[in-house]
Amino acid sequence: MNQPKYRVFVCTRQRTQSEDCCFNCGGVEIYQAFCDEIDRQQLINQVEVRQSGCLDRCEAGTVVAVYRANWQNFTWLPDKIQHKVRKLLFPNRHLYGHLTSADIPEIVASHSIDGKPLKRCQIDIN
Ligand code: FES
Repeated sequence: MNQPKYRVFVCTRQRTQSEDCCFNCGGVEIYQAFCDEIDRQQLINQVEVRQSGCLDRCEAGTVVAVYRANWQNFTWLPDKIQHKVRKLLFPNRHLYGHLTSADIPEIVASHSIDGKPLKRCQIDIN
């Protein structure tokens, strides 16, 4: 796979039954829905989808972060510093929350194809 244009991180973190977490909100199904939609839209070389740990917005599960993947220029820095530099220089992270599988085709079409984050499903970064 060449450098993807977008990276999608789907939180699938599991906590206990009584705690808010993306696993309990269908995180694995959302991950699969992204994979299926990327495959259906033939975007496999442009969009990379991964399961992730907690994205610190557990109350909004299932939470998904989408980044524009242009970070490779900082690979010479230590990982921790790379992360901070990327955050400062590329405030291009968008968070989606309260997702259902039905939202995924619209997010892929809007964000990954048209380059416009889908406001209807976005949540605040902080
Ligand atoms: S468990 Fe998904 S954001 Fe925390």
